[in-house]
Amino acid sequence: MSEGFQQKFFDHVDKNQALYIERLAEAVGIPSISSDLENHLGDVNQMIDWTKAHIDRLGGKTNLVVNPLNSDKITYPPILLGEFHVDPKKKTVCVYGHLDVQPAEKDDGWDTEPFTLVEKDGKLYGRGSTDDKGPALSWLWIVEAHQALGVDLPLNIKIMYEGMEEYGSEGLFETIRDEGKPGQFLDDVDFFCISDNYWVGKTKPCLTYGLRGLAYFQVGVKGCEQDLHSGNHGGGIHEAMTDLVRLMATLVDTNGKILVDGVMDSVKPLTPEEEALYESIDFNVESYKEENGVKNVSDKLLYDNKKDLLMHRWRYPTLSIHGIEGAFSGKGAKTVIPAGVKGKFSLRLVPDQDPKQIEKCVKAHLETEFAKLQSPNKLEIELIHGAVAWLSDPKHPNYQAAARAVEKVYGCEPDYTREGGSIPITSAIEEATGMNVLLLPIGACDDMAHSQNEKYNISNMMNGIKVLGVYLHELGKIQGPKPSDCKCIPLTQEELMVPGAFLRGFKCKCEM
Ligand code: BES
Ligand code: ZN
Repeated sequence: MSEGFQQKFFDHVDKNQALYIERLAEAVGIPSISSDLENHLGDVNQMIDWTKAHIDRLGGKTNLVVNPLNSDKITYPPILLGEFHVDPKKKTVCVYGHLDVQPAEKDDGWDTEPFTLVEKDGKLYGRGSTDDKGPALSWLWIVEAHQALGVDLPLNIKIMYEGMEEYGSEGLFETIRDEGKPGQFLDDVDFFCISDNYWVGKTKPCLTYGLRGLAYFQVGVKGCEQDLHSGNHGGGIHEAMTDLVRLMATLVDTNGKILVDGVMDSVKPLTPEEEALYESIDFNVESYKEENGVKNVSDKLLYDNKKDLLMHRWRYPTLSIHGIEGAFSGKGAKTVIPAGVKGKFSLRLVPDQDPKQIEKCVKAHLETEFAKLQSPNKLEIELIHGAVAWLSDPKHPNYQAAARAVEKVYGCEPDYTREGGSIPITSAIEEATGMNVLLLPIGACDDMAHSQNEKYNISNMMNGIKVLGVYLHELGKIQGPKPSDCKCIPLTQEELMVPGAFLRGFKCKCEM
């Protein structure tokens, strides 16, 4: 981006702040809750159509890919593919985002209606504002700005937006595999960029090169035929709920130690180099406590120093217990014996942990523990979502382009961080295409994604649009052949360890 254009671009973005807020308000107003398709499939589809209409308006090509998992029983939203094509000789970046959101109700403890965007003190409150509608839509406003200023895009932009991310990206893995084949949509993509995570702090931008994976389980205990009165029948039967809470309690101790045999076996030992990475990260334990809603009644976290806290959030697996389906959960007292209950828990996985292997360990553990109860009830264990962890190389030119963009907008170098959360398709994209994926977060650590009062700072939104816009131009400056043109065999693990060898197409075998 030339200095002159950069200033014009920044001015354009600044002038359009009110318009961006208005559009985000429209998007947040569509309750596109993917975990409740029975009630919200129409909304998820509407959100996808709304976005498609913007791409169409801007002259992009669009295609709604029918969800490959559709069946007689269930219909999923389509996947929205879009394209702003400039020149076949130019490189291509594909941006991914999700247009679906987590459920939210005012009664959950929101101060305002979750599906009405409310501006207060420079912050935009609403479900999906930061996760992920705000960041995902930025790309469209960047294309619009280029058109308004009469400047060509520096490279081709492809867009892949889905509506099922919060429910495990149903159908997207198959679509990525198909679209990654020769001649298909993803085949000529050289770089990927995803803005669907957050800074580690409130003020300093970062680039993220690692995510944890996920193994989400449901463990059901089926007891009697129907719910019963505990006064009538308590004392006569083996209660499903009693079995289940005992089982769930054997999974993890109160200090977060996972008690399932075999789960820690594949966790990489810490090297001094990796340990050193944590020292320089701009993260303060005290402000983390204050600003993220994590404060405990006793003000005590599991770890009180930066390094251990970050490592346990990013590079070690964890096991969290989420809930029990079928159990009484309302206010007050209900003297019921639930007939059958399903416990929900998940493990966040780290590199080298295979969800299938973890499933084996978890099943063996629960079956052994259940046998100890000598209960006549029926046990059923199911892995609902499985995703491997992901780790990239921050020295890749894709990351370096983003780092330069951050410097131009924020005037500082970004931190390089990993994340505890999961974006399961990240590894799938890499596997299907062999191209590098950059995570470029825009939102701040206290945005409260998935929680009450989710928000997006106006300053993060505005600077985010600027960073992503400048990033495009920095990518456009990268010299050399298109990484996607490289047809040579992938580098081996050892070859990948050689500094600089990570980028197929830049230092690949066909150039040696
Ligand atoms: N935006 C998040 C992913 C995320 C959260 C990345 C926190 C890094 C830090 C995304 O919308 C999400 O929540 N994904 C789910 C995926 C799951 C349903 C497979 C998650 O991580 O729980
Ligand atoms: Zn998200």
